[in-house]
Formats: sequence, C-alpha cells, structure tokens
Amino acid sequence: MATTEIPDLGTDDGKPWHLSGNNAPVFDELTVTDLEVKGSIPTELQGRYFRNGANPQSGTSDHWFVGDGMIHGVELSNGKANWYRNRYVRTPMFDNPDKERMELYLDMEKGAFNYEVSVANTSILGHANKIFALEEGSFPYELSRDVETIGYHDYGGKLTTAMTAHPKVCGETGELLMFGYSSLPPYLVYHRVSADGELLQSEEITVGGPTMMHDFTVTRNHSIFLDLPAVFDMEEAMSGGMPIKWSDDYPSRFGVMPRAGKDSDVKWFDVNPCYVFHTLNSYEDGDEIVVNGCRLREIWRNSSDIAVSSDPNPEDAPMMWEWRLNMETGTVSERQIDDRGSEFPKIPESLVGLRNRYGYCLSTGDGGITSEDEGGATIKYDLANGGASEKHNYPAGHFPGEPSFVPAEGAVNEDDGYIMTFVYAGDTNTSYLSILDASNISANPLAEIHIPQRVPTGFHGTWISDS
Ligand SMILES: [Fe+2]
Repeated sequence: MATTEIPDLGTDDGKPWHLSGNNAPVFDELTVTDLEVKGSIPTELQGRYFRNGANPQSGTSDHWFVGDGMIHGVELSNGKANWYRNRYVRTPMFDNPDKERMELYLDMEKGAFNYEVSVANTSILGHANKIFALEEGSFPYELSRDVETIGYHDYGGKLTTAMTAHPKVCGETGELLMFGYSSLPPYLVYHRVSADGELLQSEEITVGGPTMMHDFTVTRNHSIFLDLPAVFDMEEAMSGGMPIKWSDDYPSRFGVMPRAGKDSDVKWFDVNPCYVFHTLNSYEDGDEIVVNGCRLREIWRNSSDIAVSSDPNPEDAPMMWEWRLNMETGTVSERQIDDRGSEFPKIPESLVGLRNRYGYCLSTGDGGITSEDEGGATIKYDLANGGASEKHNYPAGHFPGEPSFVPAEGAVNEDDGYIMTFVYAGDTNTSYLSILDASNISANPLAEIHIPQRVPTGFHGTWISDS
C-alpha cells in the first residue's frame, strides 16, 4: 500500500490525496439488482466478490489507513450479475463517529486494548463457511453473504489478541495461520486455526520490539514472520498521528517456525533493511524457503505520509523481490525480480504455501500521480521464466485495484482462471467489475459489470465461491 497509482485527480478542494478523486468516500449504501454487463460472465462463476476499503463516514480521516470500513460486493450466478451492494461494517467506531479511536480502544483499567473496537477496513477472508472483514488492530468482523454485519468473532473467546488482515489459508489443508501484533506486550502472538474454524494454538513469539507487521507468509511446513523496522513511536501515538516510524537501529529479519512449532523453534534470518507490506507467496525448495513479496527500501522515516508525488523517486516504489532462506546454512540470498512498481500481489488460493509459477499484481508505475491520458495496469509475473511479465492495460483514465485470481472449473494449467478487480472509470466517474482471462491477460476483458456509483480506491478483496 505504500505507493500507489492514484487516479489523475491529485488533490481537490485542498483535501489530502487520500480523500480526493476516487479516493474520496461514497456515502450511499446501495442495493442494485440486475446489473448491466458488457461482454459475458462465465457461467461457472457462482458466488460473490467482496472488496474492503477505508471510507470515512465523516468524509474525513487523518490517514488513508484509518477510515471506516466499507464493503463493496457483487453476486454472480448463471452468467448474470444479480446485485451490487455496498455497506459500512457496523463497528463501535462506526457507531461512535465523534469518539477518537483511543478513547474506545484503550481500556485504562486493564491497561489493555479492547479488540472489539475496529474499523474493519482492510481485507476480506472466507474461512470455515464464514466471511470476515479484517483490520489488523482488532478482532475480525463477521459478515453475511448480503454484506450485512453479524458482529465481531473471537473464536469462542480463545482469540485474545488482534488478528492480522493477512492471515493465510493453507492451499492443501484449509488450516488458517495468522498472528496478532501490538504496541503493548506481547508484541507478537501466532495463532493456528483448524480448517473448520477452531482456534487450536496461540503462541507468543519473541521479537525485538513493537513493530507494524502487516503481513506474513506460510509454506507447507512453516510459518514465516516479517520482523521489519517499522517501529511504534509512543510520542507520535500521543499526538494522534500514525504512531509508526522507520528505525535504522531495528534489524530486518525473517523468522521461520514449524507451523505447529513454538517460539524457541523460530529460526531467524537477517535480511537487508526493507519493508514488505505484502508477500506474494512462499514455498519450500530443497533446503531453502523461497519468499516472494513487494519490497520497499524503507517506509515512514520522517512521517507516515504515503509517498504520492508528481516527481517521485522510482527507487521508492514497491518492487517484486525474492528471498531464499537456507534452513541448513542459515544464509539468505535476495534478488530483485522487477524494477517497475507493483503491489497488491495475489496467487491462486489453492497454491498458498506451495510452489507457484504465476503472480498477479497491481502496477504502481513509479509511485507518482498518473496523468489523465494513461490508465492503470494489472501485471502477471511468470516466476518460472525469470520473472517475465505480461500486462493488461486498462483504457486511459481507468484504474484497477488489487487483482483476485478465481480458478476455472476443471483447470489444468495454473493460470486457467479469471482475474477480477473493480476498475474506476474516470471518464464517467463510475466503476465496473472487470473479469479477465488469466491465461491471456492482455486480451480484452471477458466481462465488465457496470456499477452505478463509483467504487472508491480500496485495499483488499476476494472471490468467495458458493462451493
Ligand atoms: Fe494489506
């Protein structure tokens, strides 16, 4: 999320970029049926696409990451787009719009956080027949298929920490691996949840301090923590800002632990200083653990502003990298796969933790403001072919979000499937759900499902199939 392609509008009315153009919130919660479609929706797509994002109900927020969560959903069946619904997640933050988060979040008597307090604005998870809206400071919030809020979920009282917005569901077993981090001890707690949704294990992991750990990654046998130098700054927290700063003194490390292991089993690997908001995937290759992710050379040295500039430094863009961690020798090798900006990486869910060939990302260009005569792009990496890439370029003034991969029925090849993303059409100030053929990504979309209001730029989405 660090640098992103911003629709052409820059700032308007003196508002910060994260509240301007298509980043500005929408306020109407619509239910629209029988959506207009250009092209044809593959009839095998039976289910719903949900996407989360920050959409402050007051119209304003101090930072891109902190607005109230709003879910945009589209239901598909039998080649038709049945409905579009957008709904705020009903959280204590939504219900108390005049309160500062810390007033609700910090329980002064217990000296602990109240994890029911959330904006639930970051991602969507389908697991064990439940749908969750996630935000990394809090418990997950369960949603209905119709995008209504059911309430927070704490795994029957067993979850006693926040839950990351980037848990991993094992592609083989359906087990859910996740963690919670905090600015108060314990700084990091790992959790393992069975395929049917029972929390089986919670394990405190020793780290050097409180950091923002946005993502992690898993392989068939291991869970991998990214302990990186985005460190909590209490002074900043008390002044109401985003309380995280880069530290040159905090080492960058990846920690590898057996999936059902303990703190003492974690093998730590020093890596070159960096920040990784999002991993693509990881897998085992002989003695090595291979991690792919979108690497930034640093974040938030002077402030937590997201880098958006008309004259950006290309080196500040997030780029696809590979780390190889040798479990026998303890050594690490690092390799840049692409020198163009890419973020919001995704693979087929069936390959989480297993060797993947392809990866799909949002092109972030050079991290600057894209001009009106350009459009955004989705990138497909072929990692078996040296990281070669193919692009889908959207029309001028059209900007996609994170690409979700949806497998085709009876798929033979890894890329037999579809890429789904909401696209903002600047020329009409509306949006559409785009469906691309993942095996021929540069071709015209198979379908564009028209959404009668714009879907603001958001964070993460997912397809949840009826099966
Ligand atoms: Fe994220």
